[in-house]
Amino acid sequence: MEGMKHSSEIQQAARMIAAGELVAFPTETVYGLGANAFDPVAVARIFETKERPSFDPLIVHICELSQLDGLYRGDDERVYRLAEKFWPGPLTMVLPKQEAVPDIVTAGMDTVAVRMPANPLARELIRQAQTPMAAPSANKFGRISPTEAHHVTKQFPDVYTIDGGKTQVGIESAVIALHDDGFEVLRPGVITEADLEAVVTRSGIDSKEKQQQSPGLLKSHYSPGKPMYIVADPCNHFKEQDRAGLISFGIPGDNCHFSRTEILSRSKDLREAAINLFSAMHRLDESHIEYIVAEPLPEEGIGVAIMNRLKKASY
Ligand code: TXA
Ligand code: MG
Repeated sequence: MEGMKHSSEIQQAARMIAAGELVAFPTETVYGLGANAFDPVAVARIFETKERPSFDPLIVHICELSQLDGLYRGDDERVYRLAEKFWPGPLTMVLPKQEAVPDIVTAGMDTVAVRMPANPLARELIRQAQTPMAAPSANKFGRISPTEAHHVTKQFPDVYTIDGGKTQVGIESAVIALHDDGFEVLRPGVITEADLEAVVTRSGIDSKEKQQQSPGLLKSHYSPGKPMYIVADPCNHFKEQDRAGLISFGIPGDNCHFSRTEILSRSKDLREAAINLFSAMHRLDESHIEYIVAEPLPEEGIGVAIMNRLKKASY
């Protein structure tokens, strides 16, 4: 079993979390850089290590529903319906916070973002550390999210990292807010608006103030060190293919001459494309090419979340 294979690493990591240190750990979405959510000094170290601006609040990870009581002040039955359906899993709910949640976690807001990750290593770590863990993605602020342990150690060689292999979902959780009239998606994920609508009503509010509601949702994010462009039909429309790497949804045509090609899914499966997206970006970023060119994916279902990441990476 996975848990057995990693048991001494998890014990070590749990001790470190309890002692106020940081640990990088796998979730099903991306690797997180975690600290005890109730230790403001440890959480401050996350911001320092990531070079993350303090206005960008963190997600708090729990391993069982009872931990929600210490974080969430309220009893909205929709929260429990969503938890029942989607937890453990890649859904984050922004909820009214308990007084005890440190301001540094929530960037001073009166809400806290909470999720229960599906990766059993993550939940076992939280269980042994005996505290919910605040954890952003384990990358320098604004850069490509890590889906493999070496993506983390490349950026943070000094951080203790549990290697759980490649993550199973590949892009970050969907973040939602719950308004009186329904939910609103603040960040799309593999749990789609349609999935959520099967459980709770969608809000009629089409907020133009998402930036304010979710201060971390900047236009530019997930950025490789190289210029990245989204180009429709890139094999026919991008000129300097010998100097560029291609992120292709499926198998590219014979007329394609990019210096490197990353195929997200040979069968054009959006779920598989999400799993492979950030690894492909990391590989192209490390290669000799000068530009990264991404082919747009259909913006439906999980494609919405993938295009959200591609647009921010190329902004
Ligand atoms: O899949 C994930 O969600 C990963 C793994 C590690 O769990 N975590 C992750 O965290 O993506 P991070 O910090 O990279 O993104 C969290 C985002 C923030 O940038 C912000 O937009 C939103 O969640 N958020 C957090 N707290 C919030 C709050 N109180 N109100 C609104 N949005 C919030
Ligand atoms: Mg992030």
